[in-house]
Amino acid sequence: MNKLRVGLLFGGRSGEHEVSISSAKAIANALSAEENADKYEILPFYIQKDGLWQAGEVALEVLASGVSIHSQSANPQLWQFPPQTAEVDLWFPVLHGPNGEDGTIQGLLSLMQVPFVGSGVLGSATGMDKIGMKVAFAQAGLPQVKYKALTRAQVWSNPCVFPKLCDEIEASLGYPCFVKPANLGSSVGIAKVRSRSELEAALDNAASYDRRIIVEAGVVAREVECAVLGNDQPQASVIGEITFNSDFYDYETKYTQGKADLLIPAPLPEAIMQQIQEMALKAFTAIDASGLGRVDFFYVEATGEILINEINTFPGFTATSMYPQLWAHTGISFPELVHRLIQLALERHSDTQPKD
Ligand SMILES: Nc1ncnc2c1ncn2[C@@H]1O[C@H](COP(=O)(O)OP(=O)(O)O)[C@@H](O)[C@H]1O
Ligand SMILES: [Mg+2]
Repeated sequence: MNKLRVGLLFGGRSGEHEVSISSAKAIANALSAEENADKYEILPFYIQKDGLWQAGEVALEVLASGVSIHSQSANPQLWQFPPQTAEVDLWFPVLHGPNGEDGTIQGLLSLMQVPFVGSGVLGSATGMDKIGMKVAFAQAGLPQVKYKALTRAQVWSNPCVFPKLCDEIEASLGYPCFVKPANLGSSVGIAKVRSRSELEAALDNAASYDRRIIVEAGVVAREVECAVLGNDQPQASVIGEITFNSDFYDYETKYTQGKADLLIPAPLPEAIMQQIQEMALKAFTAIDASGLGRVDFFYVEATGEILINEINTFPGFTATSMYPQLWAHTGISFPELVHRLIQLALERHSDTQPKD
């Protein structure tokens, strides 16, 4: 039997470059394990931080060592793809954040007319943009925190307009509130603010990262997550919880060993778990996601409210990440999970071809 040649695409031009290498390493192990080894052949493609694509030995080396490398070419032709690109039967984009999880790579792969794992352009772009995502969630009737969408142009406007903008935020959202660039991830550029001066500084900082900015009312809540797998009939996993001692789940807490713990399954009443699963499936469909997604919620224990926070269309996928662990606890092993994702990609690809 001919093996399916899987183009493992990792690294990328986002702040989550290193996480992507770890995720790709775990996925490569799973593709080489058990029955998968007879079905799939891995062709690694490493995207450097400057955007240069590397295949063959260089990509294998990064995958094996887990260490990123920098461009060696004085004048890299960033837009040129290695010749091995033509040998790929199916792409597995293991990219987190901007330029990977946001529809850009998905557009390129759609143009190549080769099946790929995960959401297409619309699902990826909507899942990345916190404003677009919230509009889609609201349309689907999903409860979420109160928010205000802003642009960089508004934040960096005439000094007479800016104070009015801050007045409006204080009146409608109050303190504490969260200021976020709309398209980043990993909590980069996010600030929890408690005063006018903190609000002004956080807006200015968020505007330096993104043209689109969101400010949300802060809630005191437990943070729980649900994994989704499937295309048009998606399934939801058991629920997991993240616990930590810091002020919020910021960059340092996310990526420093020992600062946060994952509890699977989350200690929650059965009825709450079911409600979260239903909401996760609704959110997945609301943004037109496919393949996989991790949906994150705030559970306000005091009132019993469940508020959707966000969906990640390519969540962390290392051996210890929440997404594969949620499936492991639901009965789907890591190797089985990557196999299913590939099958879902093939199914989605045939669904998107013109029908006679
Ligand atoms: N409205 C909010 N109320 C309370 N905590 C929040 C709120 N928004 C964000 N946070 C905290 O900030 C973290 C990161 O925010 P999130 O929107 O999930 O950004 P990212 O996409 O970077 O993960 C959350 O996990 C949570 O700890
Ligand atoms: Mg988050």
